[in-house]
Amino acid sequence: MTMRILEILEHDGQSLRSHRLCLLGITGAGEPSFNGERRALRLLAPGARALEEKSAGFVLSESPVPTEGTLSVDDVLCGIGEADQHGTSALSMIRGGFVSVSRRCAVLRPIRVGILTVSDKGSRGERDDRSGPALAREVPLFGGTVTERATVPDDEEAIARILERWCDEGRAELILTTGGTGFSPRDVTPEALERVGERKVPGIGEAMRRASAAITPRAALSRSNAVIRGKTLIIALPGSEKGAVECLTAVAPSLRHGIEILCGWDGECGNG
Ligand code: MTE
Repeated sequence: MTMRILEILEHDGQSLRSHRLCLLGITGAGEPSFNGERRALRLLAPGARALEEKSAGFVLSESPVPTEGTLSVDDVLCGIGEADQHGTSALSMIRGGFVSVSRRCAVLRPIRVGILTVSDKGSRGERDDRSGPALAREVPLFGGTVTERATVPDDEEAIARILERWCDEGRAELILTTGGTGFSPRDVTPEALERVGERKVPGIGEAMRRASAAITPRAALSRSNAVIRGKTLIIALPGSEKGAVECLTAVAPSLRHGIEILCGWDGECGNG
């Protein structure tokens, strides 16, 4: 769904002001900032001007305002929260930047994401999982929301079982595994993906290795792969926090489009 921003309003505590351009940011406490000031952010329906003190709002061209998903205005991303009694919804900040009047914005449907850490030591509680939480921090950047989290040992059967469950019970459109893609005899995650996958997606492994080769000569040592089972895309990422995030970053810009096609949310391949 795309629409335009008709007006940018701010209630600075004294009066309501209209802006042509604003800079959105995130305070140290994780709250939204508007032109450098802490402000609650809201989405407003066309014609609405009711804003509480110390808040700012974007008047949209379409009504009713969306109440879930991610609002994207170019590179700026905001999480959309529930509507209040005035029909306006709250916004949280995911990624800041400039927003101007008349800019086109899109509401991204949330992609449900499962994160599976594959680690013998992690599953025994002998090592802190750093890669799983690091991947979870990346997920909102492509409009995803983490719905499943688990850690399993480097065991093909155990990995396959949980992947099948998350896919077949329709719990996630995307599953990211981290760990077990290397050469150790216990590294069997790609084999588990091949076992549960109905269709291979070789381009994702290729893209990750191509991007990683510019960072480390060891990129080729990851056997990272991707498969589709039903309406879920499963991607195996390396085990280190650095490797997992770098590989996800390499493919993240194309994931939404692939998942929209896979899930039948969008049938168009023409734009970009
Ligand atoms: N890819 C990126 N982008 N960055 C990395 O640091 N590490 C490599 C490789 N791919 C790495 C990377 C290394 S050293 C190994 S051994 C393999 O991923 C496999 O990692 P895994 O066995 O932890 O899954």
